Amino acid sequence: MAPFRSLLFLFIITLCVTLTAPANSLPTFFPRAAAYQSPVKQATAPKPNLPFNTHYFPQTLDHFTFQPKSYKTFYQKYLINTQYWHKGAPIFVYTGNEGDIDWFAANTGFMLDIAPKFKALLVFIEHRFYGESMPFGKDSYMSAKTLGYLNSQQALADFAVLIRSLKQNLSSEASPVVVFGGSYGGMLAAWFRLKYPHVAVGALASSAPILQFDKIIPWSSFYDAVSQDFKDVSQNCYEVIKGSWAELEAISTQKEGLTELSKAFRTCKTLHSTASVLGWLWTAFVYTAMVNYPTEANFLKPLPAYPVQQMCKIIDKSPSGATKLSRAFAAASLYYNYSRTENCFEVEHEVDTHGLHGWDWQTCTEMVMPMTCSNESMFPPSGFDYKRFAEQCQMKYGVLPRQHWITTEFGGERIEEVLKRFGSNIIFSNGMQDPWSRGGVLRNISTSIIALVTEKGAHHVDFRAATKDDPDWLMELRRQEVEIIQKWLNEYYFDLGHA
Ligand SMILES: *[C@@H]1O[C@H](CO)[C@@H](O)[C@H](O)[C@H]1NC(C)=O
Ligand SMILES: *[C@@H]1O[C@H](CO)[C@@H](O)[C@H](O)[C@H]1NC(C)=O
Ligand SMILES: *[C@@H]1O[C@H](CO)[C@@H](O)[C@H](O)[C@H]1NC(C)=O
Ligand SMILES: *[C@@H]1O[C@H](CO)[C@@H](O)[C@H](O)[C@H]1NC(C)=O
Repeated sequence: MAPFRSLLFLFIITLCVTLTAPANSLPTFFPRAAAYQSPVKQATAPKPNLPFNTHYFPQTLDHFTFQPKSYKTFYQKYLINTQYWHKGAPIFVYTGNEGDIDWFAANTGFMLDIAPKFKALLVFIEHRFYGESMPFGKDSYMSAKTLGYLNSQQALADFAVLIRSLKQNLSSEASPVVVFGGSYGGMLAAWFRLKYPHVAVGALASSAPILQFDKIIPWSSFYDAVSQDFKDVSQNCYEVIKGSWAELEAISTQKEGLTELSKAFRTCKTLHSTASVLGWLWTAFVYTAMVNYPTEANFLKPLPAYPVQQMCKIIDKSPSGATKLSRAFAAASLYYNYSRTENCFEVEHEVDTHGLHGWDWQTCTEMVMPMTCSNESMFPPSGFDYKRFAEQCQMKYGVLPRQHWITTEFGGERIEEVLKRFGSNIIFSNGMQDPWSRGGVLRNISTSIIALVTEKGAHHVDFRAATKDDPDWLMELRRQEVEIIQKWLNEYYFDLGHA
């Protein structure tokens, strides 16, 4: 039985509960991987009109072994903008994450905004196994034999190799490189600075939850933070959502319940289970919390400014007789239909517009981020069943997760003491509206490993292109980032001149 709508997206969240249906009454952590039986349509997003040229770099398949088959190459896509640059000037590299690179470039207007000031060359490198950078073409996702080459260490090595080659081709070996990344891309940027300090002089890691592993932070943090976002708007809003799950569960036992529910939720096809509705609502609340931006934006979907407030307004202003579930539905409709163009809702089938499905494999191998729902969260309470999770991964891919690999490879425990004595030039920026912020670095570690925290910020909001409606705190955050990067570069050029 696969009752879950799989949740696609960057930093794909995982439902931390099953609906307590009679057949499956144990609350369980369901990885996306396990939920992955409903067909996911592949679609191509319209290509944004970006000021970049596209290139393809022959990249080595396996950087870490020297067997003949490791030498196979594949084409890794990267985007480049040379409009402001001259030889010797800085190179700003976006370390691509789990999706096609055009999408990240379109949503990282910040780099374009600051390029003229630094006369920077901009490069956006696609992560292997995403977008067009498929090492085995259409067969890339066939099995663990091919997917085995999809991991963060190979991705970091790809970036290093490509950057070196690019600098050589530009005859600009002395250009300082600064890496930028958001979300998983931010984790990669921070790790890149730690692993390849000779390639990048600094990293701006926005909304990078590098502490979301093992037992570094409480497992309930993520969903507690989502809930807090709603509670901060209104207690009633939080309570309505929290109370809606029981109403949904009651429907699963009613005759004609699913037919009625399909009508009420305006689904395109009659529902097979209430669990898909749980996933659909869940997705709307979680992703809206993540992208609770201060201005109208279209990252995952088009949404108004501060969409959590808008959702709660819908809930709080519903007619007094309305059920909690119908209020939750009305709120979720904001997420799915702010464009006002949906005729019906595809509750059981979703469309993967940005080619994100490789994240599934990554969560089943190295990116094990345990999550639970506490009693205080607005979601049904549940624990994390590692054994169950591992079984699902085994079933799907024939491999088991390596639960402690990330903290072994990159650290994370006692990060403050460790990085205080090692490492430099990293900005960790986090907005507390973003539930991933709880897994981020929220305190200054040293004079050059800086945490910039904004109370009202959401998921890598600083990376969005500036707009005329940006609030002061956001402009100030970006100003600080620019100032710190400028300092790194000044130091670099000073050292270069005195070498
Ligand atoms: C650098 O030039 C070589 C030779 O033309 C080419 O194969 C390689 O793809 C170039 N590197 C990058 C990063 O484009
Ligand atoms: C989406 O919004 C439009 C405009 O308000 C409305 O006519 C339509 O019924 C909505 N779609 C769904 C599925 O609710
Ligand atoms: C959550 O609530 C349940 C049932 O009320 C209770 O048994 C459990 O101890 C509570 N857990 C926590 C962590 O408070
Ligand atoms: C870290 O230090 C910077 C100044 O370098 C300061 O602006 C910022 O608020 C500090 N961050 C935290 C979380 O205290």
